[in-house]
Amino acid sequence: MSQSYHVAILGATGAVGTELLQLLEERQFPLSKLTLLASPRSAGQPLLFKGKEILVEAVSDRAFDGVDIVLASAGGSTSKAWADAIVKAGAVMIDNSSAFRMQPNVPLVVPEVNPKAAAAHQGIIANPNCTTILMTVAIYPLHQVQPIQRIVASTYQSASGAGARAMEEVKAQAIAILNGEQPPTESFPYPLAFNLFPHNTPINEQGYCEEEMKMVNETRKIFEVPDLRVSATCVRVPVLRAHSEAINLEFAQPFSLETARDVLSHAPGVKLVEDWERNYFPMPIDATGKDEVLVGRIRQDLSHPSGLELWLCGDQVRKGAALNAVQIAELLINNNWLKPTTVPSAAVSHS
Ligand code: A2P
Repeated sequence: MSQSYHVAILGATGAVGTELLQLLEERQFPLSKLTLLASPRSAGQPLLFKGKEILVEAVSDRAFDGVDIVLASAGGSTSKAWADAIVKAGAVMIDNSSAFRMQPNVPLVVPEVNPKAAAAHQGIIANPNCTTILMTVAIYPLHQVQPIQRIVASTYQSASGAGARAMEEVKAQAIAILNGEQPPTESFPYPLAFNLFPHNTPINEQGYCEEEMKMVNETRKIFEVPDLRVSATCVRVPVLRAHSEAINLEFAQPFSLETARDVLSHAPGVKLVEDWERNYFPMPIDATGKDEVLVGRIRQDLSHPSGLELWLCGDQVRKGAALNAVQIAELLINNNWLKPTTVPSAAVSHS
């Protein structure tokens, strides 16, 4: 008999939590039990799974008894507050927050890029930042052909990155503005509807915001290139749930466009979307609800003989968060890595 697992979603009522629920159903994740956890505000709220209602429970010390895998997406402070209880209960926490990402003993995993890193977990595996996941899925296949020397990324990030309430706020802002009223700004510092602004995370002494530094540091950790040159500008745009990124890559030698297209048309998790005649390339509305990162507009950097430009769109809630987490869970169960292992397996089985 094939095995099944007790999974808990921490943050089940949020934008990513709701998507996690859908993905577990869609991908027929082998579940023996599903526990839905959120704040006490949501206790007793029914959520649908496979046509049946499951009541949300307030997270508590006992909530993790008997749980094998916790998919956490309830913010960094909630992850930090419950990590010890989760690990003590013997479960593996796949954490969508930034709380543990840069800890040396916590693998930071994109299954298409560094699946073997997951084997060395000590109870916590971190899901990278959404912009980093989408970018690394698209550029790692090129990096394997010829190592990338430098990355310059500009992001166009949707409201979903700030959660379910933020998505509703953008809709309410649009309605208010169209009615000539003052737009509400609770989740965001400024109106996002009919506007855009540099990512509203704290800024460091060099002038980079946290989101930008996540792209720098997380990409280095995932690629295992600690001195990789990465620079990013992150911007929030009034799109509901798919992020876009313009990426400039520099190599040591020229990288042919034919090779880049050929590699990306076969790359796992990537869909090449290029129709030069129609000027049709990836758009957030086409990426919404899709598993793949849509990549296109691959072209030579006119300012550098060994540079490539590309454009991508990916569903922030799905591959940028929930899907990546479920894929990590699948990686663990397919390779028998739920319990910490010290020797990474040579043969990694994907789902
Ligand atoms: P709740 O709905 O009860 O507030 P989003 O990222 O879409 O804003 O979702 C955040 C998720 O994290 C929600 O499910 C939210 O639950 C949950 N959450 C927020 N704060 C806590 C907390 N202190 N304890 C447990 N869950 C929390």
